[in-house]
Amino acid sequence: MNKAKEEILTVLRNSNDFVSGQQLCEKLKISRAAVSKHVKGLRKLGYQIESTPRRGHRLIKTIDIPLEIEVRQYLKTKLIGKHYSFQQEISSTNSFLADLPLSECHDGMVMAADKQTTGRGRMQRTWHSPKGTNLYFSVLLQPRRNLSDIPQLALVTAAAIVDALKTITPDIDAGIKWPNDILVNGKKLAGILCEMQAEADVIHKVILGIGLNVNITEKQFPKELQKQSTSLRMETGTSINRPQLMAELLNSMDKHYRKWLKDGLTHFLPTLKDRLLLVDKKIKVKNLDNFTEGVVQGLSNDGGLVLKTGNKNQTVYSGEIKI
Ligand code: BTN
Repeated sequence: MNKAKEEILTVLRNSNDFVSGQQLCEKLKISRAAVSKHVKGLRKLGYQIESTPRRGHRLIKTIDIPLEIEVRQYLKTKLIGKHYSFQQEISSTNSFLADLPLSECHDGMVMAADKQTTGRGRMQRTWHSPKGTNLYFSVLLQPRRNLSDIPQLALVTAAAIVDALKTITPDIDAGIKWPNDILVNGKKLAGILCEMQAEADVIHKVILGIGLNVNITEKQFPKELQKQSTSLRMETGTSINRPQLMAELLNSMDKHYRKWLKDGLTHFLPTLKDRLLLVDKKIKVKNLDNFTEGVVQGLSNDGGLVLKTGNKNQTVYSGEIKI
């Protein structure tokens, strides 16, 4: 969105009444024709603006798309989202940041999209990413930490998502399926894809991709996903404002990430342990061609999953849970 449109939007948003064309011309130092053109452009984006020749323009309804201007009004971060980009359609927000030359990367930058054509999940799966209904975004981070600490970021992000949901949808009870799925009532609400580019022990970028099912309905999921997936709307019965939720997620990720940089995982262990699903259940963790089988005991202090196999405890640090 260009500067003039943003300014018009800000003026209209801050006024409860009509704003005359003349006032907008003077404020933006542009012609009346230019004001009309930008108002038309805003309508095209989906903003409902009432215009009358005598009274001017009035914002009736804003849009539910996580454009920067919509998200920024709720953003309180110190690092994450200072650079924020949005595209209506993209292949994958993770792939976009992965392909971005290092010289164009900024620590904490966010890439968000309204639709992904090849959204990616863990284990080479696809992530269902239809237009106009969910949140798909990736955060690029450049922590100066040991490579072996990086998988913890998936857990820190999971804790951040759970915390943000407490604010926006306090009635839902979100749990964490180790290492990085968010489930509600046994169904998947959100997934985290943590990818990294590094050289020897220098981290170039960590990309945390988040897909969160927000307003999608059961019917909008492909048949094969319907039984195992849910959305905030399906759980609460109401539509959620996506820009506000996006800002809350980024606020929470920012707070959690900065705390992790300072103090490591310790601070998050109580929340993570409290929200950990499948405790006392017998599971298998698949890792490459290996299966580790055991009864879930909990989390280790460095974020591994502790399993009891026979009378021995063992900790796994990566893999995929099979029940
Ligand atoms: C999973 O549960 O398997 C992880 C899903 C991660 C999906 C998100 S959507 C935004 C970002 N871009 C992608 O292509 N994937 C992640």
